[in-house]
Amino acid sequence: MDRRLFLLGTGVSWATLALGEEMAMPHHDRPSFGAVEQFSAPDLPLPSGQPLQPLSRLKLTAEADGSLQGKLVAAPHTQQLLTGKDTTFWAYNGQVPGPLIDVEAGSTLELQFENRLPQPSTIHWHGLPVPPDQDGLPQDAVPSGEQRRYRFTLPADFSGTCWYHPHPHHHTAEQVFRGLAGAFIIRQANDPLAHLPEHHLLISDLRLDVEAHIPANTTADWMDGREGQFVLVNGQLRPQLKVSPGSLIRLRIWNATSARQLRLALPGATWYQVGTDGGLIERPQPLQQLHLAPAERAEVVLHIPQQVTAAYTLHALPYARGKMVGREQEKPLELMQLVPSGPSVTTPHLPEKLRQITPLPAPMREQRVLMSEKMIEGPTPVQFLINGRSHDPARIDMFSILGETEQWEIINGSDMDHPFHIHGAQFQLISRIRDGEEVPEPWLAWRDTVNLTHAERVKLRIRQDLPGLRMFHCHILEHETLGMMGNLMVKPV
Ligand code: C2O
Ligand code: CU
Ligand code: CU
Repeated sequence: MDRRLFLLGTGVSWATLALGEEMAMPHHDRPSFGAVEQFSAPDLPLPSGQPLQPLSRLKLTAEADGSLQGKLVAAPHTQQLLTGKDTTFWAYNGQVPGPLIDVEAGSTLELQFENRLPQPSTIHWHGLPVPPDQDGLPQDAVPSGEQRRYRFTLPADFSGTCWYHPHPHHHTAEQVFRGLAGAFIIRQANDPLAHLPEHHLLISDLRLDVEAHIPANTTADWMDGREGQFVLVNGQLRPQLKVSPGSLIRLRIWNATSARQLRLALPGATWYQVGTDGGLIERPQPLQQLHLAPAERAEVVLHIPQQVTAAYTLHALPYARGKMVGREQEKPLELMQLVPSGPSVTTPHLPEKLRQITPLPAPMREQRVLMSEKMIEGPTPVQFLINGRSHDPARIDMFSILGETEQWEIINGSDMDHPFHIHGAQFQLISRIRDGEEVPEPWLAWRDTVNLTHAERVKLRIRQDLPGLRMFHCHILEHETLGMMGNLMVKPV
């Protein structure tokens, strides 16, 4: 049966669904289902075409013990995106996106977090191998009005393009769509691309209603994952970046949207992928398109020819991700422009060898994770499950042994794409299986998020090097918030 028809044909209006009494969660802590229609105002004249603003950096001070100290305050923050209309975000240090943390591998960070939101919150360091008690788990919430300190030392051999965002029980989706997320770069020693000019593109989604307010999620959002009518780069609509003719430029790109699959294209350009979530890959890979699932990141190098006059437009191409309610993206979306300008320069060649990645050894154990959707009668028409269950913060769903390589098979048993993410360690994708055909991954890379289209399976290898509690979940934040998440306990042998 077509589940769209199933859902729309039940005769139950979305209003009834949204306002239903019988919810699985107790009333006081369940996510609010909000209004029924998509209260977005597509034509709001948000300013566009302005120069791309670099991400502002978090101020870090070096302490006597060698640590870098900084402070992140999550609080409501009002801005006028449209003259005369106030938009209230929830922001880190009054900035959307949050301040960039940019450090060397091996750094020790001590970050004071103050929660001035009306809800509990945490900061999760997405992709970073930090100890579980410093990783902002839902089990470690910081109540409204309180503070805590996160302190961790990064491994000397870990680098990557990571990010941070809230991860409290039941409130993650809302806190991120109201503006809480920031970039976190960890630089490897002897970076072979350190000589290239570098730019950061953090892509996020914003929905505004006619008053330029950020509306609550609708039932459709809870099912499909929320998308806004504006897709922003560093918080700006279709900004422009000037690039020198003849140059090679390095871009780090974050998909920090709640649910959007970004099939990025740069027509006319010569570009290469050089890195994934967990840092550089072994060799540059020529790109046609770059698919970034929600929460995924990449590093690319773009070559701007000496003789070039036209601007390059970064597009997100149409993509159908198996939504239950909303329309799929049917047209290409313009995200930003790269405009060649100024005197031409000569840059050295892109190195052929970027770094060596050692393949993880043969696994000691296998684990299976099934992601599924279940239609149910009642006010919440769908459940999003992992191994048949909805997340319970008090239950351990799987165990791993510290320091042992495991092979995980992830299975998407549903009709929608789900980006799968594991905390605490980067993994290596081994193969993807679709229609019974197993395709080995063409190159080695470190990742912490992988997209699975409907009925797809993937095999990955992972080794957790720190003991304690980790989560694994779908990174469509509405699905995660509704329970498509499991708890993994990493224990010593
Ligand atoms: Cu971005 Cu549990 O993660
Ligand atoms: Cu994470
Ligand atoms: Cu999902």
